[in-house]
Amino acid sequence: MNNQASQRHPKQRRPSGSSLADQARFFKSWIENPARAGAISPSGPYLARAMAGCFDFSGDGPILELGPGTGPVTAALVARGVAESRIVMVEYDVTFCELLRQRYPKATVIQGDAYDLMKSVEGHLATPAIAVISSLPLLLRPPQDRQRVLEHAFRLARNDAPFVQFSYGLKSPLPRAGMAGSIAYNSRRLPPVLLNVPPAHIWVFNRLSKANP
Ligand SMILES: C[S@@+](CC[C@H](N)C(=O)[O-])C[C@H]1O[C@@H](n2cnc3c(N)ncnc32)[C@H](O)[C@@H]1O
Repeated sequence: MNNQASQRHPKQRRPSGSSLADQARFFKSWIENPARAGAISPSGPYLARAMAGCFDFSGDGPILELGPGTGPVTAALVARGVAESRIVMVEYDVTFCELLRQRYPKATVIQGDAYDLMKSVEGHLATPAIAVISSLPLLLRPPQDRQRVLEHAFRLARNDAPFVQFSYGLKSPLPRAGMAGSIAYNSRRLPPVLLNVPPAHIWVFNRLSKANP
C-alpha cells in the first residue's frame, strides 16, 4: 500500500465538496432517502478539515472512511498530503460512489453498507487501518447498529487507530466509554466546529489497548 504523501499539481486540486453541484447532488440524495443521507448538504470545509486534521497519518497503512458522500473529508485528507491510494471508502449511495471514483481514481471506493463493515470491506484492506473516519448519520440508527460499526471498525484497524466521528447532536452518538463487543474504549470530544452549518462536534474514540484481545 502506497503511503507516500501525494505531490499534487495545483491543477489537480480537488473541489472542497461544498460546490453548488455537490450541494445539489446531496440534496437529491436527501430527497430520495433522508434517513440515509442524514443531512441536506455536504459537510463544510472547516468541519472536513477538522476531521482530517485530528489524527496522525504519518505511519504506514490505509485510512478507512465511512459515509464519504460527495467527498469533502476525502478532499481534506488529500489536501493534508494523504495519498489517495491509502484511502478506502465505504459509501452506500451509488451516485456518490461513481462521483468519488471519478475524483479519486487511486482510492478504493466500496459501494456497500457500513453497518455491516467487516463484510463490506472484506478483501479490500491489505493491512489494518491506521484510522477510521466516519461521517455516517449514526443518530438515525438504533444504538446496537452504531455499536456494531464501532466494534467492526476497531477490529479492522490497528490497536492505536482512532475512530473519528462527527455529529450535529450535542451528545455523543456512541457511549463515551465502554465496550464495543469485547473491545474496551474511551473517547474525547474536540472543540466544536462553529464555522459549519449547523455547528458540529467531533468525537475521537480510542481502544484501551491493555484490556483488549
Ligand atoms: C451526513 S452524510 C455525510 C457525507 C459527507 N461527509 C459529505 O458531507 O458529503 C452521510 C453519508 O453517509 C452515507 N451512508 C448512510 N448510510 C450508509 C451506510 N449504511 N453505508 C455506507 N454509507 C452510508 C450517506 O449516503 C451519506 O453520503
